[in-house]
Amino acid sequence: MTFNPLKEKGISLDKQIKTWEDIVKRPYKRDTADCYTRTRQILMNGIEIESWNFKHHYLRTSNNNDINKLIADIRRIENNQQTTINWLCPHNQSVLDTTLGYEQVAIDLTAWLAQNEPDEYVKETYDFGLLEDFDHLYRYAQFAYLIEGTDPNDILHYSTDVNFARPTQYHHNPNRLRIRKSYDKIKTDPQTKANILTLLSAEQQTHNFYAEHGFMYGADELRRLYAEISDVEEEHVTMYETLIDPNETMLEKLLLREFMEVCCYHNCYKDEVDDKIKLIYEEFLAMEIEHLQIAAKLIEKYENKDPYEIIGDKIYDTCHFEEQKEYVNKIAENESDKRLDDGFSYTFLNDIDDTWTGYQTQRIMLSKNAPSEAAVRLNITDIGTDIVSVDNKMLKKRSEILSNSLDNNCMAPNTVSYKMFEFDKDKADIFE
Ligand SMILES: [Fe+2]
Ligand SMILES: [Fe+2]
Ligand SMILES: [Fe+2]
Ligand SMILES: [Fe+2]
Repeated sequence: MTFNPLKEKGISLDKQIKTWEDIVKRPYKRDTADCYTRTRQILMNGIEIESWNFKHHYLRTSNNNDINKLIADIRRIENNQQTTINWLCPHNQSVLDTTLGYEQVAIDLTAWLAQNEPDEYVKETYDFGLLEDFDHLYRYAQFAYLIEGTDPNDILHYSTDVNFARPTQYHHNPNRLRIRKSYDKIKTDPQTKANILTLLSAEQQTHNFYAEHGFMYGADELRRLYAEISDVEEEHVTMYETLIDPNETMLEKLLLREFMEVCCYHNCYKDEVDDKIKLIYEEFLAMEIEHLQIAAKLIEKYENKDPYEIIGDKIYDTCHFEEQKEYVNKIAENESDKRLDDGFSYTFLNDIDDTWTGYQTQRIMLSKNAPSEAAVRLNITDIGTDIVSVDNKMLKKRSEILSNSLDNNCMAPNTVSYKMFEFDKDKADIFE
């Protein structure tokens, strides 16, 4: 039987107010939690922050007090849900540990969505962003070892590879180059709309986490790396938010956000392996069903629209986490030399010349050392290898991927060239 979220039974709004004992639960364990329990927790925090933040924007643009009162009440619930979810993160999970988790979310979520996306243009956008987050994970993993001696697989559990792709130094563009073509709200599948909002919320929170935690380390190069990558996440937010039709009304946007929350909690509830956290997702799903049904009534009343025409009568798996190595490696092999062009589309390194718009930013930002190259260089100098986790087949392709993706016309002075690696040798695992 299909799950029709406009017909399911929710929890009434007055029963969604809780005590602090019920809001703040015991965290999962850093060392024993399933890696995808961590990614779900990281993602759902981002989802709740978007839901809360959007409702503030709503009140700043609305003079309808009947709607505003309802939205203010629901927003308090989103805020309490955010606390419950984010407080599941254990106190002894360092900022760098959590950062590896954020990039694992970005990689495995984007890869999942790319393979479950009906719109070809949106899928291509996901594949483009995917490689950049994949490269971020590799850069942060260097520092996690360098600063804290961490094996990235303590966090990733071998479910996500650690390797370079399109190097982070090439993720810096004039932000206007990131603007994408927006979908048409009438013609577009609800799945596409829910997918975009899910990833947008994740990327926005990733930006916020780096922007708000990057100063918590003393090492200058690591502080700069957080600054560098948080700026790329800003570009990612631009990229994903501009896929959305700007003609959606605020009530349509409200309905779609509640729909996204229902889809995500349903997916998390189905997948979660920690019994206590599964119960939270089950309860929050019922709460979101009520939010969605309230939003549906508002759109019927004030815009005379049929909510089924906007969200359909079923839900989608918007956030299923599983190993995506094969898909990610395929994109890494084929698209690490891909770049943005001026026509809301893409180009390849071989096809750009000196007038390429991306150089306006890259020639300034790469004129001094790139933090994203620094830690790789330090590890190679110090322990004779970078921190990498891929199978032997991919190990042998690293030289080709790196030489294809480096731009000989524009490169930070401290760029690690493929000559610095001993690619043909089997790597000894330094964590064994
Ligand atoms: Fe929520
Ligand atoms: Fe990232
Ligand atoms: Fe990202
Ligand atoms: Fe909600």
